[in-house]
Amino acid sequence: MKPVAEHCLRNQAPIAEALRPYLEAGGRWLELGSGTGQHGVFIAGREPQVTWQLTDLAESLPGLRAWQSEAGLANLPPPVVLDVTRTGPPAHDYAGVFTANTVHFIGWTVVDALLRCASEALAADGWLAIYGPFNREGQYTSAGNATLDAWLRERDHDSGIKDEADVIEQAALYHLAFVTAQAMPANNRLLMFKKNG
Ligand SMILES: C[S@@+](CC[C@H](N)C(=O)[O-])C[C@H]1O[C@@H](n2cnc3c(N)ncnc32)[C@H](O)[C@@H]1O
Repeated sequence: MKPVAEHCLRNQAPIAEALRPYLEAGGRWLELGSGTGQHGVFIAGREPQVTWQLTDLAESLPGLRAWQSEAGLANLPPPVVLDVTRTGPPAHDYAGVFTANTVHFIGWTVVDALLRCASEALAADGWLAIYGPFNREGQYTSAGNATLDAWLRERDHDSGIKDEADVIEQAALYHLAFVTAQAMPANNRLLMFKKNG
């Protein structure tokens, strides 16, 4: 049985559309914390010029394999285990790294490891795309995000919605220069960074 995340069904088309200009050039993209893999499968299906590598913790691999094998796409290789706190990326020449709904789900230590891993994975001038909810100037951007944050912190003290400016500052430590932020449906954002040559 393939796991299905309803929010992915709602958000996958706007995310794919927003990423489209960055994917036009093709090349290999690495996804961190793929979850069910729905975003990657959807994007790989629309963008045959891009090879998309799904990754996540070992516990997510059965679900990822189910989505990947059913998709049967030549540009979607089998998923690999990648815990950003334990191992580095599978390669160092990716054109892009994408991660969705991870930064609020994990604590700062893991966010730091995720940014380091993304930077190590990217070729010079490669793109990092981070999608999810962010606070702005210390404030929630919606009541829904405040409720989500309370739920996250109850589950794991260290997790919670991060301030966009803090993530941008942390990314800069790993040579990931902030380029632009795009408002997305349901009070989410797509942050784009470029790896300094
Ligand atoms: C809220 S889910 C998001 C999944 C998917 N990207 C989505 O948008 O539905 C957060 C994901 O982060 C992954 N994750 C948590 N800690 C991680 C780590 N140390 N390394 C890699 N992935 C991690 C989880 O396994 C989970 O799949």
